[in-house]
Amino acid sequence: MSQTKTTASANTEFPNRVFSGVQPSGAMTLGNYLGAIRNFVRLQDEMDCIYCVVDLHAVTVWQDPAELANQTREITAAYLASGIDPKRSIIFNQSMVSAHAELGWLFSCVARMGWMSRMTQFKDKAGKNREQVSLGLFAYPALMAADILAYQATHVPVGDDQKQHLELTRDIATKFNYDFCGEDQPGYFPITEPIIQGAATRVMSLRDGTKKMSKSDASDMSRINLTDDADAIALKIRKAKTDPLELPGLEALSEDQQGFGDALRAERPEAANLLGIYAALSSRPIADVVGEKAGQPFAAFKKDLTELALAEIGPIGAEMQRLMNDKAAVDAVLADGAERARAIAEPILRGAYDRVGFLKP
Ligand code: TYM
Repeated sequence: MSQTKTTASANTEFPNRVFSGVQPSGAMTLGNYLGAIRNFVRLQDEMDCIYCVVDLHAVTVWQDPAELANQTREITAAYLASGIDPKRSIIFNQSMVSAHAELGWLFSCVARMGWMSRMTQFKDKAGKNREQVSLGLFAYPALMAADILAYQATHVPVGDDQKQHLELTRDIATKFNYDFCGEDQPGYFPITEPIIQGAATRVMSLRDGTKKMSKSDASDMSRINLTDDADAIALKIRKAKTDPLELPGLEALSEDQQGFGDALRAERPEAANLLGIYAALSSRPIADVVGEKAGQPFAAFKKDLTELALAEIGPIGAEMQRLMNDKAAVDAVLADGAERARAIAEPILRGAYDRVGFLKP
């Protein structure tokens, strides 16, 4: 098998299709919502969309079996409550469609150890504990490539932290195409485009502006969960770490005014984070928000931010609670979605098997 890669080809032969996923490894956070879910909702107006609850990925680290089913329902409820329409888009959980695991194996044989070893998320998650983490955690990005390419998806909306995994997905598709399709033939898998958009593609912890807001952080005060009640949201924002200065002015922005200059993120990460969250929640450009809030003390700004967060997230949390009390309805959405997902993924998997040379009965 050749190890050389060709350059990425254009996706002209593939119809536009969106795929993305969220792990059911804990509560859905404001980071997931602003970095990913809001774009999921918006893209429904532009393309066919498939949104997965990636339970196979979740078990790469320990998940309590007694909790996993409900966590899966909770992410599904968050999708629905945020505005993903299960009639227009496909919503399902990954373990219900076996093509993911099957293509994941094939891609474990396409991806190179060297590529996988460079994945920063694996290094961060494994830390000094490399010998003790699961083999699945190492292979995680190959399964992620399979999620996307089992649908020949062309676009993948994600937060900034998934960028490297999507580059790997492109590498896997490119190598598969090179190895298994004739050189002058069109590739079998598209070279996927990441969609990383909005003022908050990297929402940081409320306790430490240099760390990503994460559902797996030990401190619940570090994140806003979509299911938090109004008191919890207000408390978390009031207690959010800041610095002793007032809010920065327009000089803190990068030259193109689209985001912060490196200096603000490096020197005042908490200020940059809270302003980014404000801009994203109010759907306004960062420059507008910075111009308006320049020189304000954090206390006043935090009050405004709390109001905004409650207005946007409050109704989503309430709808999630309602859906979580109607498990049958949530499960029906997943079952219907899985059937529709299978109908797309199965023939694409068979086509990949054909190209690899597996014997058909
Ligand atoms: P996960 O479950 O960690 O996060 C789901 C989505 O939320 C985004 N996100 C954030 N965005 C901004 N700020 C944050 N603090 C933040 N935290 C999370 C993530 O970038 C992601 O878009 N590997 C993926 C799940 C996955 C997947 C896929 C995604 C599996 N297969 C195929 C796309 C396509 C993950 O762990 O996401």
